[in-house]
Amino acid sequence: SNPNLQSRGALVVLEGLDRSGKSSQCSEIVSYLQSIGLATELWRFPDRDTAVGKMISAYLSNESNLDDHTIHLLFSANRWEKRDKRSLMEEKLKAGTTLIVDRYSYSGVAFSSAKGLDFNWCKVPETGLLAPDIVLYLDITPEKAAERGGYGGERYERLDFQRKVREKYQDLQDASWKIVDACLPMEEVQKKLREHVLELIKACQNGKPFSHLWL
Ligand code: TMP
Ligand code: MG
Repeated sequence: SNPNLQSRGALVVLEGLDRSGKSSQCSEIVSYLQSIGLATELWRFPDRDTAVGKMISAYLSNESNLDDHTIHLLFSANRWEKRDKRSLMEEKLKAGTTLIVDRYSYSGVAFSSAKGLDFNWCKVPETGLLAPDIVLYLDITPEKAAERGGYGGERYERLDFQRKVREKYQDLQDASWKIVDACLPMEEVQKKLREHVLELIKACQNGKPFSHLWL
């Protein structure tokens, strides 16, 4: 049989600035998909529970300082380590589970290149990871994001820096991206995300082939 035509789950990535509403929307989509009987898991990057994730977490909370290249590679390693000898991500998808992923390689490139690291250099360590079937970008200006109860105390949560990140996100957009206005009422954002995801899940059930970064 043609392995490209195997039914599988969808790899869905949500991206956006800090305070764009990603995490709430991720949880919402996961509950919704599970409620209609679709096998779904919530993943997030950074995954702060792994050994590398703990180093990232200390860096983000300013408990440690690292060279910009070093932390970039740790964020990338945090995605690669989820493979752990085999590709857990690919296995889950092949078993029919849809993965809703809160941030992925696009955050890696956008945040590091916003610091001034070379854009193409930032993309290299992500090369060969599974490409998402769709990137749902929750678009918000940093000013509007900051109004939402302000930022927490983490390293990148500053208005001037988030402005740069937004520009880098714009340079990363490709055909797999859907831009959703994050300032619409929550229910409307929710509805748009559900529509995109349901359509995609159908395509993946019909054997949409996998692809890898960078498309
Ligand atoms: P979080 O708020 O979604 O937990 O993410 C923590 C911060 O890490 C957020 O400001 C975005 C940043 N980040 C990177 O700089 N590189 C990455 O690869 C990822 C996944 C996140
Ligand atoms: Mg955050």
